[in-house]
Amino acid sequence: MEWSWTDVLCHPVWVVTTLLLYLVVRKQRRGYWDPHVCPVRLTGKTAIVTGANTGIGKYIALDLARRGARVILACRSKERGQAALEEIKKKSDNNNIHLRIVDTSLMTSVREFAKKINEEEKRLDILINNAGASGLPKRITSEGLEVSFATNHVGAYLLTNLLLDLIKRSAPARIVNVSSVNHKRGVVDFSHYRGDNLSYVLDDVYNHTKLHNILFTNELARRIQGTGVTANSVHPGFVKTEVMRYYSLLTQMIVSFVAFFFFKSSEEGAVSTIYCAVSEDVDGITGKYFDSDCSLTLASATARDAALAKKDWEFCEKLTGLSETKEK
Ligand SMILES: NC(=O)c1ccc[n+]([C@@H]2O[C@H](COP(=O)([O-])OP(=O)(O)OC[C@H]3O[C@@H](n4cnc5c(N)ncnc54)[C@H](OP(=O)(O)O)[C@@H]3O)[C@@H](O)[C@H]2O)c1
Ligand SMILES: *[C@@H]1O[C@H](CO)[C@@H](O)[C@H](O)[C@H]1NC(C)=O
Ligand SMILES: *[C@@H]1O[C@H](CO)[C@@H](O)[C@H](O)[C@H]1NC(C)=O
Ligand SMILES: *[C@@H]1O[C@H](CO)[C@@H](O)[C@H](O)[C@H]1NC(C)=O
Repeated sequence: MEWSWTDVLCHPVWVVTTLLLYLVVRKQRRGYWDPHVCPVRLTGKTAIVTGANTGIGKYIALDLARRGARVILACRSKERGQAALEEIKKKSDNNNIHLRIVDTSLMTSVREFAKKINEEEKRLDILINNAGASGLPKRITSEGLEVSFATNHVGAYLLTNLLLDLIKRSAPARIVNVSSVNHKRGVVDFSHYRGDNLSYVLDDVYNHTKLHNILFTNELARRIQGTGVTANSVHPGFVKTEVMRYYSLLTQMIVSFVAFFFFKSSEEGAVSTIYCAVSEDVDGITGKYFDSDCSLTLASATARDAALAKKDWEFCEKLTGLSETKEK
């Protein structure tokens, strides 16, 4: 008997099993925590979300807006930021949404942004370090930092530190870092910060930066213990966003195909971060890493190395000139 692949693909058994697989996968994608049934209100509270104009960040900002918070969208593009601002205002029915410009890859921009916030805001209850990029081509910024390290890590480090006093005054307050499961493949090498010894294949650079995110969260949590401010990091899951935009068209097409079945939508991808930012379950929990289904998970052994975290923190303190700022 002759048969061809088209016969197989059209066979009802194939169609039914594919459909079943799709439904099972979809169900698996959902975490147990649902932001829509979480009653927490944020009236009178202020939140900052970096990279809030698209992807996961936009949905995090939208959720916080729906809970009645004053939300500051920290974006690098005025046009893209403004478009998100309009959309979030309309969908949330909350007019207390504001756009402030920051480029997390440039420390001068981060300092300017933080200065403005410190002058304008009376309080800061929630800070979400979400801005990040993957697959950026090799480049050293005008300030001498490797661009992915600057964007994903050093910028968030400086921003968090410059806003920390305001956050402490608003305690109980929460800081959440959007990291990634990719941190497990990262290593710490201080020459990376200046762009040395990096390979730029298979997300190598991104993986390192996401490891630093967790190390810093843990060191920060240690440093602010007892202040009523908590710091946690989170993996959002694999999410359909613009995060692949710096990759080749072929790579993007292959990933989009897989993403169709297995990846979360941006709205679903925002859930674990929103959980860390608002859920009462997380009250008082600090220095921890949450998985994309909102469960408390162990980060890699390197990410939990306290001595390394301290060394890394002190390295960045010098790198950003923060130690001098503090002494003044
Ligand atoms: N998608 C995933 O599967 C996945 C998995 C694990 C972790 N994550 C993490 O989730 C976070 C959000 O990613 P996403 O997937 O939502 O990606 P996305 O759709 O590409 O959004 C990234 C956001 O960060 C902003 N951003 C990038 N570089 C910036 C800079 N130098 N200064 C200020 N803002 C900057 C972007 O602004 P522009 O639009 O102006 O570029 C955009 O708003 C990232 O930290 C990422 O590492 C994502
Ligand atoms: C977030 O990550 C940055 C950079 O890795 C770090 O400096 C900052 O302390 C972290 N904050 C929290 C709350 O984890
Ligand atoms: C690259 O890494 C090697 C070993 O890990 C180290 O000895 C060397 O100093 C690094 N290169 C630079 C330019 O720092
Ligand atoms: C980066 O992490 C991803 C996901 O864990 C992995 O597939 C990839 O191989 C890693 N890249 C390198 C260079 O280790």
